[in-house]
Amino acid sequence: MSEYEMAARTLVAPTVLTIQLSLSMRVLIIGCGKMGRGIAIRAAAGRHVLTLYDVDPAAAEQLADDLGGLAPNGAKVAVAETPADAVPQSDVIILASWYGANLETARTLGAELDGKIVVDISNPLNDTYDGLVTPPGTSAAETIRDALPNGAKVVKAFNTTFAGTLLTGEVAGQTPDVFIAGDDQQANDAVAALVRGGGLHAIDVGALVRARQLEALGLLGITLQGRLGTKFGTAWKLIMPSPANGLRSVP
Ligand SMILES: NC(=O)c1ccc[n+]([C@@H]2O[C@H](COP(=O)([O-])OP(=O)(O)OC[C@H]3O[C@@H](n4cnc5c(N)ncnc54)[C@H](OP(=O)(O)O)[C@@H]3O)[C@@H](O)[C@H]2O)c1
Repeated sequence: MSEYEMAARTLVAPTVLTIQLSLSMRVLIIGCGKMGRGIAIRAAAGRHVLTLYDVDPAAAEQLADDLGGLAPNGAKVAVAETPADAVPQSDVIILASWYGANLETARTLGAELDGKIVVDISNPLNDTYDGLVTPPGTSAAETIRDALPNGAKVVKAFNTTFAGTLLTGEVAGQTPDVFIAGDDQQANDAVAALVRGGGLHAIDVGALVRARQLEALGLLGITLQGRLGTKFGTAWKLIMPSPANGLRSVP
């Protein structure tokens, strides 16, 4: 059994309730590198219907093979020849490549993404990985939104969650938080369901403008790795107050 099958199977039992309460979504992942792989295994664990695309078809095929028969009814995870082929049959499109590639994909698909949930996971890093290329007062996610039709529901998610932690689903016995920002509540809820179905903890931080802070947090996490020597193994975690203390519980 592959490590991906093992990781997904260990997640099946805790996520049964979530699966029963949330509909299976059709998820297209564009970019099958480290993050595409991590998100794919979480989505597969949540029993969502996956389609994969990468500029390197071999990378998408390899990931589909590694995921094995994890798709509903044991079907092989689908691989698309082009993103445009798969978008009409997809509810959620995850832009899982570098910022520049994600922006280019958004521009190329354009009207095809009208009405779709489009998830940007990028940290728009500069060449030296110590700053962001996006000017102050905006974010990668907002720039991608501005390149799309008004009906596209852009959500920022997964940019603060390192790829290795998506594979394991835990860090030091704790569940990583996945922060979500977007202007369409139904889209945010759908992405939160995707996150929870994969056994992770979702925190909706509000409107897409909050992507500015999430991308800064992603950068901080990256710059901390060298200082702490933690090899991209850390995860951000918001410690919640107890509702028993009279504080409002956070979803
Ligand atoms: N790695 C992390 O822990 C982490 C954490 C949070 C957020 N992120 C963000 O996640 C994104 C992906 O990072 P990664 O570490 O997964 O990178 P990666 O391992 O290099 O994966 C990116 C994949 O996308 C492919 N690709 C390039 N252009 C494409 C296009 N136009 N359409 C489809 N696929 C394309 C790449 O192919 P080629 O290699 O052939 O170019 C590669 O297979 C980045 O924006 C990064 O900032 C990463």
